[in-house]
Amino acid sequence: MADKIKKIALLTGGGDCPGLNAVIRAVTRTAILKYGYEVIGYKYGYKGLYNNDIVPLDLSSVSGILHKGGTILYSSNKDNLFNYQVEENGEKVYRDVSDVGVENLKKENVDVLVVIGGDGTLTSARDFARKGVKVIAVPKTIDNDLAATEITFGHYSALDVATDALERLHTTAESHHRVMILEVMGRNAGWIALRSGIAGSADVILIPEIPYDIKKIVSKIKSRGEQGRPFTIIVVAEGAKPLGGDVVVQRVVSDSPDPIRLGGIGDKLAHDLEQLISDHEIRCTVLGHLQRGGDTSTYDRILSTRYGVAAVEFIHEGRFGNMVCLNSNKMTFEHLENVIGQIKTVDKGDELVKTARSIGTSFGD
Ligand code: F6P
Repeated sequence: MADKIKKIALLTGGGDCPGLNAVIRAVTRTAILKYGYEVIGYKYGYKGLYNNDIVPLDLSSVSGILHKGGTILYSSNKDNLFNYQVEENGEKVYRDVSDVGVENLKKENVDVLVVIGGDGTLTSARDFARKGVKVIAVPKTIDNDLAATEITFGHYSALDVATDALERLHTTAESHHRVMILEVMGRNAGWIALRSGIAGSADVILIPEIPYDIKKIVSKIKSRGEQGRPFTIIVVAEGAKPLGGDVVVQRVVSDSPDPIRLGGIGDKLAHDLEQLISDHEIRCTVLGHLQRGGDTSTYDRILSTRYGVAAVEFIHEGRFGNMVCLNSNKMTFEHLENVIGQIKTVDKGDELVKTARSIGTSFGD
């Protein structure tokens, strides 16, 4: 058990994700109601830690936020205090200003920093832990691509949106005998495409882990036509690529620690299919940030609450330097040193891939 914990601070970093508010609420409520800790939040992720931009968190400030997407603490996906942009003599330069963060924690008498974020945010959490800061990390990402944990909160909310979109696309596909393509997020992992493809009954699922052969997709479309199903629904992960080809980069955010933003493979696929198919019109919809917005799903409200409560229990037990994980449906923990950079992608032999193949879904291979 950890001695003398009186005050904890929270921050959210990286892209917003459904369930962040639910975690903030669960941490704050458990900390106050069960252990009597004082709770504050840093606004705008690590930037707030640098600027000492704090907000007190109490029961009323976290009231009514369980279901809401986004984060009441705001977020930043650029501000890494170990490589932070500052101005010196009118020039923008990058410096390690992490000591300012450590000093600010001391100034506010913060005993433990709870960091909620994805790989970039967690890397800084590990680096603060190396500097002696007592840290507990909570993983978030709609992509579900962190190896140490089975499911990250936010993933199932994004799946609900993607599944709903696939269902809606069936209407036009069936009425006009079209090929409808839905491009979903997920970076270099195909989890969103795979799961929503199964739930939204896509005929073709294209994921980064299984490069596609466009001729196989054409065969699938044709064979569906021959079977009296003259329309096809394709879900394509933003990180998918053709055999021997490369991912489509939408933009480079140069001041982000993770600068590559994927996007555009859906349009490329539509264009390439149009060259090979004349009897169907083809349309592409890019789902984009709709997957991160709106209310948090029922599943994620429960999962996020479990993550938040577990984070405070691990503080109470003194398990600093760890990230909260879900394994075998139990809340557990893994040291930050072991989790950073460990990306979880879809294994070609994954049971979900086999399941989809068994019901006739094509992976374009
Ligand atoms: O990691 C979450 C995610 O939504 C990815 O699926 C997507 O590639 C990326 O973030 C988009 O980032 P941004 O919000 O910076 O465009």
